[in-house]
Amino acid sequence: MQNVGVIGAGLMGVGIAQVSAAAGYHVFLADIDVARAERGKLSIANGLGRLVEKQKMDQQQAEQLLGRIEPVADFAPMVNAGLVIEAATEREDLKRGIFEALGKVMGVEAVLASNTSSIPITRLAQASHNPERFIGVHFFNPVPLMGLIEVIRGLATSDETVKKIETYAAALGKQVVHANDAPGFIVNRVLMPLLNEAIFALGEGVANVRDIDTAVKLGLNHPMGPLTLADFVGLDTCLEVLRVLYNGTGDPKFRPAPLLVKYVDAGWYGRKTGKGFYDYSGDEPVPTR
Ligand code: CAA
Ligand code: NAD
Repeated sequence: MQNVGVIGAGLMGVGIAQVSAAAGYHVFLADIDVARAERGKLSIANGLGRLVEKQKMDQQQAEQLLGRIEPVADFAPMVNAGLVIEAATEREDLKRGIFEALGKVMGVEAVLASNTSSIPITRLAQASHNPERFIGVHFFNPVPLMGLIEVIRGLATSDETVKKIETYAAALGKQVVHANDAPGFIVNRVLMPLLNEAIFALGEGVANVRDIDTAVKLGLNHPMGPLTLADFVGLDTCLEVLRVLYNGTGDPKFRPAPLLVKYVDAGWYGRKTGKGFYDYSGDEPVPTR
């Protein structure tokens, strides 16, 4: 397999495109339109530029990597991809639309993978052209720095499809764990209650943003405080994952914190919109509460 398609040039899609190109694959990068795909490629170029400045990569390597990323205007070029990874917004209806469109162009041998954080793979597979060649491939943010891929097989996913993904993950230098198709898989099942509880604590006035983050960061030795991490993941994504966990298990422990719902209603999605639990408009993030 030489070509990989990536659908969605947001936070995760650009990371997946970067690590795939770094592993030597040619990447077709698509979004709603070519301008967004181009913007995604530009953000990769900026990140690589910083690595070149810090002498962690040489200019030629960066140019070669970028040369393997091809922003595309529609899904037609995906006919030449052995693997297509969907990394679009965490909404089932939207992903279903993408799978339907991909079904019309993807080759019969090609594998379709979703980077969904939580939506059941078996259900998504039913919306794809071939459930045997459909699989969950869950990367972590920021993709170039995180060493894990959770692999989730749907009921119909074939062994051959799992093997293809294991080969791809090995080429990227990522460790694979296998998770069953249960809401939130492994990592988000464990992580989201932590982030949600920090938001409940904030809403109930237990402490302010800075103290909650400092407490968890230093008290539990986490690299980021939970409110910083929620902003980093995207509050819209956190809310969608919690809703899938809540609806999928029926367990009230996963009910989204009202403050999270309020922030998402306000369009405060965290770092990607410039405001969430912190305001990112200045040089340093400033707590909004
Ligand atoms: N490509 C390649 N290398 C890069 C890079 C890029 N785009 N960006 C930075 N680097 C390099 C840097 O040059 C640096 O190299 P050196 O160590 O050699 O100097 C190295 O990577 C570390 O960079 P930073 O100093 O910026 O990173 P840091 O040490 O401050 O750590 C962090 C940043 C990795 C994000 C850390 O804060 C962290 O681990 N945070 C928690 C992240 C986390 O939990 N992610 C999971 C979210 S949940 C999820 O993803 C699942 C879901 O479905 C929601
Ligand atoms: P994001 O909001 O940064 O990017 C989503 C991208 O999808 C946007 O560029 C948007 O324009 C594009 N998009 C929307 N509809 C589309 C369509 N019909 N066709 C093509 N592109 C379309 O979101 P993200 O954080 O990159 O999340 C993407 C996926 O990855 C989600 O399923 C999310 O749950 C999952 N995920 C996110 C994280 C995280 O930490 N943010 C971690 C792991 C997995």
